[in-house]
Amino acid sequence: MNSINPRQIMDKLLKEVSKSVIGYEHEVKLLFACLIASGHALIEGYPGLAKTTLVKAFAKALGLSFSRIQFTPDLLPSDITGSLIFNPKIGDFEVRFGPIFANIVLADEVNRAPPKVQSALLEAMQEGQVTIGGKSYELPKPFMIIATQNPIELEGTYPLPEAQLDRFMIRIRLGYPSEDIELKIAENIDLGNVNSINTVVSKEEVDLLRSLMHSVYVDQSITRYIVNLIRLRGMPAMLS
Ligand SMILES: Nc1ncnc2c1ncn2[C@@H]1O[C@H](COP(=O)(O)OP(=O)(O)OP(=O)(O)O)[C@@H](O)[C@H]1O
Ligand SMILES: [Mg+2]
Repeated sequence: MNSINPRQIMDKLLKEVSKSVIGYEHEVKLLFACLIASGHALIEGYPGLAKTTLVKAFAKALGLSFSRIQFTPDLLPSDITGSLIFNPKIGDFEVRFGPIFANIVLADEVNRAPPKVQSALLEAMQEGQVTIGGKSYELPKPFMIIATQNPIELEGTYPLPEAQLDRFMIRIRLGYPSEDIELKIAENIDLGNVNSINTVVSKEEVDLLRSLMHSVYVDQSITRYIVNLIRLRGMPAMLS
């Protein structure tokens, strides 16, 4: 049997990502847990809090394929999923796969694109497949969308509707850094770019952790606690 030390893997990842962004250890742990649990993540925060850099560093430290889609008002669903392109050499159409065909997809500033494009993304997240020219294609595994959203400068944006938010397993809200962290950012010129990030966790390690997830024992008292918490939060809204 393969022996694997999850804590060691997490430590390697945290150390590598901290070359580019600091103060986000907890967030990196959440992202990694989400990846292992086959979920998707939404990161919200004001401009300049290193959201994009955090995701790029996280993806680069893992031996997984990665793509970034910058959401803009003129983006089309096929810019994400792919389309049929006519190839004059063969006299026929062929599939050009879109950037969604990657293990980790950064959907940057997801609220800048209109609902039609967001739907194409959310559909792919739910179904794990994409239809191009009437034919379905499986997305790679693991498949994780990390979307970012900026809660200010809302003019001309399309915030994700409540019902679509639950396609994301976790929502991470970034706050402003502490004075100490800010001082470190100001002092370290190398922070903020991902050029020095190396792959420190292999796809095999990620796959193995994903396969072990199902054998994690969760006592019913914990599940009950989670359900109670959720019901507590949802009840007043349902009753009013
Ligand atoms: N915690 C941090 N660690 C390292 N660098 C940081 C941190 N916070 C901010 N920065 C600096 O902020 C810059 C902006 O980062 P980035 O573009 O990733 O932010 P963003 O949150 O994606 O911004 P926007 O919302 O404008 O897209 C980085 O180049 C980096 O220098
Ligand atoms: Mg950004």
